[in-house]
Parts: sequence; structure tokens; C-alpha cells
Amino acid sequence: MTESRLYIEGGKKLSGEISVHGAKNSVLPVLAAALLSQDVCRIENCPALSDVYSSTRILRSLGCKCRRDGSALEVDARTLSGCEISEDLMREMRSSIVFLGAILGRLRRCRLSFPGGCELGPRPIDIHLSGLSKLGAKITEDHGVLDCTLPQSVSGADMTLPLPSVGATENIMLAAVLGSGETVIRNAAREPEISDLAGFLNACGAKISGQGSSTVTVKGVGRLHGAEYSVMPDRIVAATYMGAAAITGGEVMLKGVRPADMYSTTAVFEQAGAAVYPYSDRIYISAKRPLKAVKTLRTAPYPGFATDCQPIVMAVLTKARGTSMIVENIFENRFRAAPELRRLGADIKAEGKVAVIEGVPRLSGAALVATDLRAGAALVLGGLAAEGVTTVSNLGYIDRGYESLETSLRSLGARIRRI
Ligand code: UD1
Repeated sequence: MTESRLYIEGGKKLSGEISVHGAKNSVLPVLAAALLSQDVCRIENCPALSDVYSSTRILRSLGCKCRRDGSALEVDARTLSGCEISEDLMREMRSSIVFLGAILGRLRRCRLSFPGGCELGPRPIDIHLSGLSKLGAKITEDHGVLDCTLPQSVSGADMTLPLPSVGATENIMLAAVLGSGETVIRNAAREPEISDLAGFLNACGAKISGQGSSTVTVKGVGRLHGAEYSVMPDRIVAATYMGAAAITGGEVMLKGVRPADMYSTTAVFEQAGAAVYPYSDRIYISAKRPLKAVKTLRTAPYPGFATDCQPIVMAVLTKARGTSMIVENIFENRFRAAPELRRLGADIKAEGKVAVIEGVPRLSGAALVATDLRAGAALVLGGLAAEGVTTVSNLGYIDRGYESLETSLRSLGARIRRI
């Protein structure tokens, strides 16, 4: 069987309106959280992504029932029986580590394989494990398998994370929700997806406060009930469509977004010369004038410039007049789009944490290979702006985080199809 590729005939300015689907980084922890409830949870705005399917496979393997109903997913965790995730399922999706806190919280025992490295470089889980230990978890590791147990009732803890890890904050919240004590997580991640997870858990009867700030407090409750909850829009997908408009000199109205979550991204597009107008749940971007280089961009935890948006912005800056510099502070391997973008004629020098991008007047089509999710999206943007034909292969990465990317881009006038 031949692998699918995206076939892009670039050079078309994009224009039109587009709706942004639910956030991958929100729905994955929310699906894990659903297993803490002893009733049915209905999760609306649940995107059809391969990572979401991986999560439902994990939930089913643990004995939960999952049912798709249009854009909603219903999870019935009353039948939860297993506390172990197989190595195959763990390997499918690195973020399956977020099930650790949820399974521990509900069943007080969890066995899963160590998630190991990933395409973005080593992704350690030491902060997750030390946080869970502070809640009283006993953790052993044998041949890459973690075995964790939690006392019957978590009596609470006060802890300070060495860095504001998103996944660790989520895992600790999930493990602390059912219990009798109060858990305070200091230097917690402030990402909007943390607030969304807290919003879902609170809708199920949890008592979480401080989400969105660097101190999150979880007051243990005896039980969680079911709830209906709509997941927040995907701010990285929104940034990708903004990037598509910017790099093609087009104009796009993004619908169903939360501009307040996206200031650090919209500010970059404005600096690059695009006109950006935020409305209550929409963002309009227009890039009629030539793009210009931006001042040094540094990725940082929220509310700083998101590492996930970095490859997308890098692609856009390949066509911006002047020299731009990006410093990647979060992940080691996050310049993997650079060598592929160079094949389109981009002038990017990347070494260590720093990439220097010299804008070029034109890009020209080439055969490219996606190396991770956001780098894959960056290559698609490059292809949309390049003259001639660009193909992008290894679409498994892109399908992890974008629901029908090519259909959405086609609706904006792009000449792109899956072959
Ligand atoms: C989440 C997002 C990912 C995003 C990242 C940073 C999901 C599913 N994924 O990933 O898209 O790019 O936040 O915004 O939500 N670290 C440690 N030890 C730990 C945990 C993390 O050293 O125990 C380090 C990591 O190596 C990395 C940094 O902390 O350098 C941030 O990682 P973290 O916030 O945990 O990212 P994820 O939750 O994996």
C-alpha cells in the first residue's frame, strides 16, 4: 500500500471563514478525567483526531464504554475494571501518561509502561512522579513498567513544581480530585487547557480553584458525577489557519475561537505586519502587505509564546522581509521543520536552541516529509506559499492534531488534496 501524501499547488491567497475544532491538548486530559466519574460524561466539541481514537481505545481497554455522537463523545466509566494500559497503547500516544493520575485517582492502582522519548526529544516524567509521590503514591519501576499505588484516601499535600509542566499539573490534579484532603500545586502550569480540565472536573462535582494561575488548589471530594462539557477551541489549530492566511497574503475569519487565550500568538502576526482583529469568539486576520521580520521570539510556558506555535510561525517568517530569530526554550527537537523548509528554498540556520530566519521573496515546491505534528503543519504552510507543487508525506503526525486539515484549507481556496 502506498502511503498518502498531501499534494499542494501553492501560490493561492487564502480567503474565507473557518471554524476551529476542539483542542486536542484539552480533550485528551478531559477524556482521561472522564474515568474518574461514576456516571456518564458527554464531551462536546470533541475533534475526530487519531489521538482521540487512541484515548478511546485506552478507555475501552480499561472497561469503559465510549460512544461517538456527531462531534460529542460519551464516556461511561461505571464499568471501569482494569488499571493497566498495554505497552502498545502507551506507545501510540505519548500523552497517554495523563491516564496515570486518573486511573490512580479512581482505582488507587495503575500499571503502565514508561512513555520514553518522542519526536520532540526526551520527555521526562520526573515531575509527574514526584508530584504523585507527594500525594502519597508508592511508585516502582521494573523493565520500563511503572507500578503505582495510592492510599485509599489522599489526605492532600502542598507542593511546588520545579517547572510548570502541563502534563504534571494535570496528572496531580487528576490524582488529587477524589480524596479527603486539600492539595495545593504551586508553580502550576497556567495553560488554558489546565483551566478547561478543571472546568470539566468541577462540572462533575470536583472542587478545584486557582486554575489559570500558578497556584491550583484541589479539595478532595468523595465522588464525581456525570456532566456535559464542551471542550475549548484549539488555539494551535487557530494559529495554523492564521499562519496559512499570513503566508499566502490572504484574509481569514476564524470562528469559534477564544482570542483571550491567543494574545502571544496574535501579537507575533501583528509584528510581522498582518492586521489582526479579535472579536468575542472570532479573529480576523488579513495580510495584504508584505510580511516583515519579527524581533527575537522566545518560546515560554503560557502566557508566553507557545512552543507548539513556533514551527508554524517559523514557516511564515521564511517569507518575511528581514532577519528573524527564534529561541526555543521548551523542547530540544523543535526545529525539525527547518531542514524541510529549506528544501522549499527557505533560508534558516538552526543550531541548538536558536534559529535565524532570513526572509526570501519566494519559495518553490518540493517533496517534504513531516517529522512531528506541528512541523508537519508548518510544511503544509510552506507548500501553500511555494510556487509549483509541494508534497508532504508522513501524514500520521498531522492527523494526530488536525481534523481534515486539507478540507478546511480547501474551503479557503487552497489547492490541496490527499493522494
Ligand atoms: C504539553 C502539550 C504540548 C506542549 C507542551 C508545552 C499536551 C498533550 N501536550 O506537553 O503540546 O508543547 O505541553 O506547552 O497537552 N518536563 C520535565 N519533567 C517532567 C515534565 C516535563 O523535565 O516531568 C519538561 C519537558 O521536557 C519540557 C517542559 O518540561 O521541556 C515542558 O513540558 P510539559 O509542560 O510537561 O509538556 P507536556 O505536558 O508533555
